[in-house]
Amino acid sequence: MYNNNPTIKDIDESKQGDAFFKEQVANNTGDKNKKFYIESYGCQMNFSDSEIVASILADVGYSSTRDMEESDLILINTCSIREKAEDTVRKRLRVFDKIKDKKPGTLVGVLGCMAERLKQKLLDQEKLVDLVVGPDAYRDLPNLIATAEDGDKGINVFLSREETYSNINPVRLGSNGVSAFVTIMRGCDNMCSFCVVPFTRGRERSRDPFSILAECTDLYNRGFREVTLLGQNVDSYKWKNPDTEESIDFADLLELTANISPDLRVRFSTSHPKDITDKVLMNMAKHENICKYIHLPVQSGNSNILKKMNRTYDREWYINKIHRIYEIMPDCAISSDMIAGFCGETEEEHQDTLSIMEIAQYSMSYMFFYSERPNTLAHKKYEDDIPLEVKKRRLSEIIRLQNQMSFEHNRKEVGRYHKILIEKVSKKSDQELAGRTSQNKMVVFPRKEAIIGTYAYVKIDDFTSATLKGHLVDEAEYLEQTKQPN
Ligand code: SAH
Ligand code: SF4
Ligand code: F3S
Repeated sequence: MYNNNPTIKDIDESKQGDAFFKEQVANNTGDKNKKFYIESYGCQMNFSDSEIVASILADVGYSSTRDMEESDLILINTCSIREKAEDTVRKRLRVFDKIKDKKPGTLVGVLGCMAERLKQKLLDQEKLVDLVVGPDAYRDLPNLIATAEDGDKGINVFLSREETYSNINPVRLGSNGVSAFVTIMRGCDNMCSFCVVPFTRGRERSRDPFSILAECTDLYNRGFREVTLLGQNVDSYKWKNPDTEESIDFADLLELTANISPDLRVRFSTSHPKDITDKVLMNMAKHENICKYIHLPVQSGNSNILKKMNRTYDREWYINKIHRIYEIMPDCAISSDMIAGFCGETEEEHQDTLSIMEIAQYSMSYMFFYSERPNTLAHKKYEDDIPLEVKKRRLSEIIRLQNQMSFEHNRKEVGRYHKILIEKVSKKSDQELAGRTSQNKMVVFPRKEAIIGTYAYVKIDDFTSATLKGHLVDEAEYLEQTKQPN
């Protein structure tokens, strides 16, 4: 769900800092006729929040532009997860300074996690920034903009226990019209010792299921065929109906979403290993349209390190969970996040991460070296004592192993059949289309008569480490070939 990985090329990296297309925000009838430009960094939740921001701004007459030089308001939705993420933002602010030099009336606003982490400090350090707005304060943007237009600084970093933006219909920025992200919860109550998210996103809260289902149904009616339910920890989704006392957990929500239509694929991210239940796994197995793919970040394969990370599970517990997933869904793909060189990590402890990767057989991973974040538990309690070269070497071992495993995964796919949802024209050739398998693997194939936004059946012929190549087959052949033996 996060695409701010500094270490692997090609994995969603291209989306970082994407500015949005002009035509993708409805030009509202508001009398202001002003333009905003927005860049987003960090995880998918931030990209989703930018869609909420676009909706709030459209309501007060702003339309979006891809050209920052013609905008009246430049926004940057920021990430604090690692030091490097914040460095990137600081560099972008230098570029915005230049625009302001040329066009002094332009307002610059910092949104998201870095705004929340640094608060007033950001205004003190960055003299040309006019707005600092935390993730729970976007409804206040119109007021803050008005304040800034009057020459004052606009700041709101209030973290809410209730805000879920449930009634805001996000403007789908940069969308392919086929798959969309739907936020189901905000914040995080897990205090993983390395992580800044609980401080930047506040307490965990779940969005009411009616608005989630209404949003997904609306997307389906508009032609979307895949929704990804988003949250820092989707498995702890919990909502209680205040009238009936009836409660809905994540497994229920997943099933309700899957029931919108068998033609609507449902994905979700991210799962915390301690919270994913058998009920979730059973519901996944029961519904063909719930994709057989789980992002289940392990962080480390060593129990001592996991304890220091405050992940609340140990190596054995995680391995049992993996076995359970493969037992219930033998065709499920699992991916992960790993942190190399956490405080005090020994060579043996690092080896445990490599070995758990092999046990889990991840199809893909996001891999990082530890970056100490101010005020986190790890910062207060442990020394960041692994030298950078050692962190980098361990990380490169992790990446090398993952690349080998991803290559093997793809090699095994040759000759197999899949149902895919066609998402787009291939980057390399307009004669080819690309779509994902249930296991989240991208398949590129000659387009023939196939149409984006529909399902197709393919047989895999070839592969690279990143994608599968195949050709279209008819449904009868697919059904024959994927029939379960009696
Ligand atoms: N909620 C998700 C993770 C969100 S942050 C979960 O619990 O799995 C995304 C990933 O960034 C984390 O899984 C972790 O691998 C990485 N990360 C978080 N803080 C980090 C830090 N201080 N240094 C390096 N990587 C970090
Ligand atoms: Fe961070 Fe842990 Fe929460 Fe994930 S579960 S966002 S790693 S504190
Ligand atoms: Fe996401 Fe980065 Fe914030 S990963 S929650 S944008 S710190």
